[in-house]
Amino acid sequence: MLEVRNLSAAYQDGVEVLHNIDLAVPEGAMVTLIGANGAGKTTTLRAIMKLMRSRGSIVFRGEEISRRETPEIAQLGISMVPEGRGVFPGLSVYDNLRVAATPWLSRGQSIDGDLDRVFSLFPILAERRKQLGWALSGGQQQMLAIGRAIMARPKLMLLDEPSLGLAPNLVEEMFEKLKSVNEQGVSLLLVEQNAFMALEYSTLAYVIERGTVSSQKASSALLEDNSIKAAYLGG
Ligand SMILES: Nc1ncnc2c1ncn2[C@@H]1O[C@H](COP(=O)(O)OP(=O)(O)O)[C@@H](O)[C@H]1O
Ligand SMILES: [Mg+2]
Repeated sequence: MLEVRNLSAAYQDGVEVLHNIDLAVPEGAMVTLIGANGAGKTTTLRAIMKLMRSRGSIVFRGEEISRRETPEIAQLGISMVPEGRGVFPGLSVYDNLRVAATPWLSRGQSIDGDLDRVFSLFPILAERRKQLGWALSGGQQQMLAIGRAIMARPKLMLLDEPSLGLAPNLVEEMFEKLKSVNEQGVSLLLVEQNAFMALEYSTLAYVIERGTVSSQKASSALLEDNSIKAAYLGG
């Protein structure tokens, strides 16, 4: 579904932070990227969305997208849930979801089915649909961010640290929700600090070190890998 080859990227200062990243997300899969702080995980997701300048090849569903603009990439079916959630604090829950459906509304399409999907996955958002973004708890904002991504009708969702800042009892619930999204036919590429949980839920994992892929394995194999345990899973 997604094939990234030789992806390199630099920020405005010109310092290259990704060096020839190779990774793939098979159709229907849930794939995890793990790695230390500053390893390049967020940058990898940003480069896939063309939120920054990059070199290399990115093929999505058979089409080369590395030279396309961000809105076109979104229209082709990749949506990103950024770290820190990206919810509009001054808009209601409902309007946050509507804004994310702008491409469909502007074509006169109904978004009732999309809203139903979001509200059945996250019933609390239906209850709080008139509340403003800022009034939501951290966990609810994260749900809204995922809801916004669903409104874009993605085939592939990129999630940057979705469990960050959640109370421990909500982390597993969040992963269960992501599993449901995945089961509804959306492939997931997930960056996670909570490596243990992410590996439990995903099938395939990549380890990123200093801007490059250092290891690629079945998640279950990585969970058993002693050096990975020591580095990322608290021994
Ligand atoms: N806006 C930026 N400008 C310059 N360098 C950046 C910027 N954002 C991140 N970096 C650098 O890029 C590298 C990778 O960062 P990042 O992708 O955010 O890592 P991760 O998400 O794995 O923690 C780090 O060395 C970081 O300091
Ligand atoms: Mg990051």
